Amino acid sequence: MGNMYELWGGDCLSESKTALVTGITGQDGRLLTKLLLSKGYEVTGILRKVVGRDMNVIPKSVEIIEADITDYASLKNALDVPGMYFDEVYHLAAQSDVAYSFEHPKETYDININGTLNLLSALHTISNVYFAGTSELYGQPPTKPQNEEYPMRPKSPYAVSKLAAYWTCRNYREAYKEHIWSGILFNHESEIRGKRFVTRKITSSIAQFLENGRPFELGNLEAKKDWGYAPEYVEGMWRMLQHDNATDYVLGTGEMHTVREFLEEALRVAGIDFTKAGNGFEEKYYDERGKVIVSVNFEMYRPSEADNYMADASKAKRELGWEPKTKFKDLVYIMMKNDLQQKNLYAVNN
Ligand code: GDD
Repeated sequence: MGNMYELWGGDCLSESKTALVTGITGQDGRLLTKLLLSKGYEVTGILRKVVGRDMNVIPKSVEIIEADITDYASLKNALDVPGMYFDEVYHLAAQSDVAYSFEHPKETYDININGTLNLLSALHTISNVYFAGTSELYGQPPTKPQNEEYPMRPKSPYAVSKLAAYWTCRNYREAYKEHIWSGILFNHESEIRGKRFVTRKITSSIAQFLENGRPFELGNLEAKKDWGYAPEYVEGMWRMLQHDNATDYVLGTGEMHTVREFLEEALRVAGIDFTKAGNGFEEKYYDERGKVIVSVNFEMYRPSEADNYMADASKAKRELGWEPKTKFKDLVYIMMKNDLQQKNLYAVNN
């Protein structure tokens, strides 16, 4: 089983290429930056404001431009500079939290739609651009699997905003012959996934439960997603931009699992012998001493759920040679082990 530090070998460029990454402090931005640096790129990141917390997760060799993607003037000022050119631009900055988007639709639209338009308009010379699309574009697909041609019927403010940005990029590509690729990435997780997303919430909360007995709550356990290992997905982004034709690519595993399956597998990896009782909103999981580990909370359900995801990534396999390697159980193991290790709770014989 590989982990993010083993996946990328040398493969350095003879002449340095340059890349601009927006959203550089997020999971994908950090993993992509690591990949690009390992390939010899000079990487520049955009940050709204330089603060110590963010700088701690950005490698020292990365150059930082301070600009706000929702503020066209600030972006134009920073990027529309004669002589400034990036071989590749990865636009990952977004309000990416689906649940939050229901509470804050305007902020989500500003960042995801206007931010994308601002970036495309402000670049002095448009080079090869990657846009972060998402399986959420499909809403609640009635059939599976989903490929690049599958109808898009978004079901959250987040997904609607991503659809508008996706079409903005597509229009730039078709109207102005710009080289813009959209990756339609299904859920992808890692040891550095934010704790508000369900996979990392589960693994970090289980580790916390083992440490101090504090139970936690979850929403819809039956939601079905296609979860893969994020370091492989950023490699897919990079492969897209090395390909001649700008187009869309689905990246995903082709396997569907529920939140419940993720939870139960993580509990097993953590060595907890669990039982469960109650149905629906009353359901709870208990440990061997009868202590509540996790309960379902109705308030954590989304106003409208988007699931039933199963990727058909055959185009990426055919044209980019991209294939996911990490299986579902391995992903849960990598993430659970990491959270246990962070609290010195991982036994070597696990
Ligand atoms: N976050 C969260 N918290 N989700 C929960 C919880 C909970 O307590 N309980 C159940 N869920 C369910 C959600 O209803 C959803 O169906 C599923 O778990 C996954 O939720 P998230 O991990 O928040 O991710 P997401 O699928 O909504 O969106 C992520 O993946 C997309 C596809 O790549 C985000 O990264 C998006 O930005 C991304 O586009």
